[in-house]
Amino acid sequence: MSGVAGWKSVEPIWGEVDALIEHSLIPPDPIMEQVLDRCSNSGLPDIAVSPAQGKLLEMLVKIAGAKQVLEIGTLGAYSTIWLARGVGQTGHVTTIESESSYAKVARENLKLAQLASRVDVRIGEALDVLELLTGPFDLTFIDADKVNNCAYVNRALRLSKPGALMVVDNVVRQGDILDPQDESAVGTRELYEMLLNHPRLECTALQTVGAKGWDGMLFARVR
Ligand code: DHB
Ligand code: MG
Repeated sequence: MSGVAGWKSVEPIWGEVDALIEHSLIPPDPIMEQVLDRCSNSGLPDIAVSPAQGKLLEMLVKIAGAKQVLEIGTLGAYSTIWLARGVGQTGHVTTIESESSYAKVARENLKLAQLASRVDVRIGEALDVLELLTGPFDLTFIDADKVNNCAYVNRALRLSKPGALMVVDNVVRQGDILDPQDESAVGTRELYEMLLNHPRLECTALQTVGAKGWDGMLFARVR
């Protein structure tokens, strides 16, 4: 997908600070290390969330008391595992992946993490799979192709409970959203336009720097 090259521009100090945060706050996790190894050995693009971001997702799920979680864009299930830890034994995660070879890696990783029983990996184009779901979901993490960001938010909204939280990844794109030149930046900028004065979504977004470069996450609460 376009835009990956841009993500390689990480100021060394951003990465060093992220390493300090990770080593200070996130206990060593041999399972997550194996999961990431398997992702890279299987040739998946290195675009999963960082450990600090993954831990944030787990904590948001817990703080929201979310038990039914939807994820759009599984990749190798790294973020999925954080979400699944957040929902606990009584919760469930539905995650959608369009690339079947990624979904295969994701299922292996979920087994490795002993979380396969609480996660449903659905293979298909997200817009098609979303039509088949009934929800309702307490929290949705959107981290798939950026072109369809508006459509994903709209469909996730239909499947959300009142008070539900949506988190959208990669909404800053090294500032590319200011003057969008590629389809991912255009799709992301359209999301901001759609959310302007949105009647049902209360929103903010935070810029982030770190191991993943300069980017950000958007948060939308369903009224
Ligand atoms: C890309 C996608 C992501 O979800 C991400 O976190 C970073 C980069 C991309 O396709 O460029
Ligand atoms: Mg992402």
